[in-house]
Amino acid sequence: MTVLKAVRGTRDLLPPETELWNRVEATTRRVFARYNFGEIRTPIFEDTSLFARGVGEETDIVSKEMYTWEDGERFDRDLLRDKWLRENIARFESWSLDRTAAPKADFEGQQMDGSWEFVIFASQTTSSQLLSLADEVREWNAASGRFRGIGRIVIPTISEAAVVTTPEGILIEKVSGAFHKSSQSLTLRPENTAGVVRAYIEHKLGESGLLQKLFYIGPQFRRERPQKGRYRQFWQIGAEVIGPPSAGSESPLRDAEVLEMLASFLDELNITGWTLVLNSVGSATDRPKYVAALREALAPVKDQMSPDNQRRAETNPLRVLDSKDPADEAIIATLPKIADFLDDESKAHFAAVLAALDACGVQYEINPRLVRGLDYYTRTTFEFTHDGLGAQNALLGGGRYDGLSEMLGGPKAPGIGFAMGLDRLILTLQSAEAEPAPVLADAFIAPLGEALNAPALALARDLRRQGMRIELGDGAFRIRKSFEIGNKLARNIILLGEDEHASGILTVKNFATGEQTKIPRGDLAQALRSSGN
Ligand code: HAM
Repeated sequence: MTVLKAVRGTRDLLPPETELWNRVEATTRRVFARYNFGEIRTPIFEDTSLFARGVGEETDIVSKEMYTWEDGERFDRDLLRDKWLRENIARFESWSLDRTAAPKADFEGQQMDGSWEFVIFASQTTSSQLLSLADEVREWNAASGRFRGIGRIVIPTISEAAVVTTPEGILIEKVSGAFHKSSQSLTLRPENTAGVVRAYIEHKLGESGLLQKLFYIGPQFRRERPQKGRYRQFWQIGAEVIGPPSAGSESPLRDAEVLEMLASFLDELNITGWTLVLNSVGSATDRPKYVAALREALAPVKDQMSPDNQRRAETNPLRVLDSKDPADEAIIATLPKIADFLDDESKAHFAAVLAALDACGVQYEINPRLVRGLDYYTRTTFEFTHDGLGAQNALLGGGRYDGLSEMLGGPKAPGIGFAMGLDRLILTLQSAEAEPAPVLADAFIAPLGEALNAPALALARDLRRQGMRIELGDGAFRIRKSFEIGNKLARNIILLGEDEHASGILTVKNFATGEQTKIPRGDLAQALRSSGN
């Protein structure tokens, strides 16, 4: 039988390495609490459209890297068509297909007495898409004149079916669940900002009128090519500051405070050698001007670029700047810079961020090409890089997303945040310090004979309740074996024989000093504690 292994791009974290992870997480909680952040835990999977709308369809993350599946009963076109045919066949003399003149909607039709009846198969269709689909058919019908008289459109969607009557206005009659049960496209979260903003909107957090300062620690999932520092399941420590403009959420002070928190956090972990790289990608009004300029600059040269960049040059030129394709680098270097397109407000905002950073001595470099690979960014964007990381040198990334809440159908709620690659943070620490030593228990209890197993468990319980870290042996072990195992796992060994059990005086041996003492049961915890110091 083949031995199963962890899936490519995922890995197990084992002790003692997990001690380091716990230390970093504890430092996160301690430092972030000083800045008055509270923890948010959002689901690991979300509706796919959250990421499509929030992060952006044309980003690498959404277009290539997401783990997406159809959840619930699958939409089975053929079954559906058979069922529909069976139910309707008697009413038709013949069934004919005509797709040639069809608009985007995929349909099959039947002409009967000068009118047509047809079915549109539309998977993953929302109500609004359904309406526009119906509109599209109506328009096409009006133009082509093919569907004279009363046509009936049956639109079975994943979650609902509808009957639409044309041409006298569109009447949509929902017949929910008529064909199949509901199904939804879900995605393992590739990042957590969209989820946090969804939660902010869903729980109306903005109604408090206060800034929401939320942090998270958790796994994210991207189908990237695995290499050192890049995994398909990886961990992020992130934080978001978001709120209504009246709470000061747009203030450059928020940007500087978040960046200062990161610098202090890295200091507290003794991580040195990082570089803060900053840029401003402008506001929602600067951006279209820049994108137009990019498009214009790309038009004459895009044919010389990689197929991905040729497509992006059309669909989302900003994403050309994220390209890691070395062949396209020379062209990218000639493209216009966003800094030349910032309006006065964006320039002043960026200058205020820099001034606040200068005031508290946080050093930075400005990189006018740093646009970051997610569509929601506005104004300040940043990354902390670390040379020790090799090719995947971004320790963390973040920025402002003043329009994200509105992109997701929420109220105006500007925000700024970051996410740190926890795996990369750990790699940095591992290269700087020795592997953590395995943690030793305070004591190993050796019951001397199987009859003493039960009293040994009771003794272990008492000591554990007093905060001691205890390993429990087994009375079936010979004493030599107990000493061998105890020496690997604990600082002390407690021998529990018949005499010790009866008298309540235990024999304790310290492995480091070799010292052996008799200690009353009631004093054991105190004695172990002082021997540990
Ligand atoms: P991001 O730049 O996509 O931003 O990811 C942030 C960090 O996560 C990266 O700098 C890197 O350290 C780590 N990371 C990303 N992909 C991987 C991977 N495959 N393996 C290991 N580590 C990885 C975001 O995710 C935004 N949500 C950040 C943000 C928060 N912006 C505003 N608020």
